[in-house]
Amino acid sequence: KRHLISAADLTRDDALLILDTAEEMARVADRPIKKLPTLRGRTVVNLFFEDSTRTRISFEAAAKRLSADVINFSAKGSSVSKGESLKDTALTLEAMGADAVVLRHHSSGAPHRLATSDWISASVLNAGDGTHEHPTQALLDAFTMRRHLSGVGRDLEGRHVTIVGDILHSRVARSNVLLLTTLGARVTLVAPPTLLPIGVGQWPCEVSYDLDAVLKTSDAVMMLRVQRERMNAAYFPTEREYARRYGLDGLRMAALPEHAVVMHPGPMNRGMEITAEVADSPRCTAVEQVANGVSTRMAVLYLLLGGSEPALSTPAEVPA
Ligand code: CP
Repeated sequence: KRHLISAADLTRDDALLILDTAEEMARVADRPIKKLPTLRGRTVVNLFFEDSTRTRISFEAAAKRLSADVINFSAKGSSVSKGESLKDTALTLEAMGADAVVLRHHSSGAPHRLATSDWISASVLNAGDGTHEHPTQALLDAFTMRRHLSGVGRDLEGRHVTIVGDILHSRVARSNVLLLTTLGARVTLVAPPTLLPIGVGQWPCEVSYDLDAVLKTSDAVMMLRVQRERMNAAYFPTEREYARRYGLDGLRMAALPEHAVVMHPGPMNRGMEITAEVADSPRCTAVEQVANGVSTRMAVLYLLLGGSEPALSTPAEVPA
């Protein structure tokens, strides 16, 4: 495969290969010199048309740990603000010899457009497009769940994952539903009816409006940010009402099975979908997810750019 646009592009074997490779990459972070020479001479461009903290920084760290050259491009402050198109921006990157373009864009479908164009020969990695998909977020989430719930080398067969909140605007939810079901997990979405997308009935998951009923059987509960910037007032109950019905507080966290983890992709609205007590508790993996994002993105960059070998079987043996 040359591009990563959707979690639906990944078979179970593809996903397990990425997760297993990410485990090997995580070992690099424990070494005194946290670098591999694997992508020396390659150029990775972070092309961000929308704001990001975690995704942009972790792709940059991942590419640098693989010894790639990294160019960070933010639409703010570039010629995009003068009206330059995605095509002309892509042609500019092609002229600079980009080997991979990590694209975050406010329009759903922009990474697909770029990957299927003849504007650029680089691999395209979707770093979040509109309300559509965020496949590397789903991979790092699956990596985190696997470590806590089923063990390295295994899939998520039989695990129950509950995703709560603003599903309507969430590219994280869609990618997670696709990837988690590919890995054998059962997924339940919990949201107010106005924050569920049309057609959710065709997604490979269950839907509930009763968070308390679902928590008792959840192995992982993933709280989503309420995306006020994409919201029409008509969709949304009051903040207080939302927190009361769909927020995770200490009482609700206590109803989870003892082994269950609380996840959040970030950024969080503390006091809305999650209380500070839960966000700061040892059961919340939000910070660990960020660290796992670097290993997971190293694995994706390595597998897309590093060559034709099926896996990174000996990263620890590559001289630093
Ligand atoms: N989870 C996530 O995509 O965060 P950023 O928007 O900060 O990249």
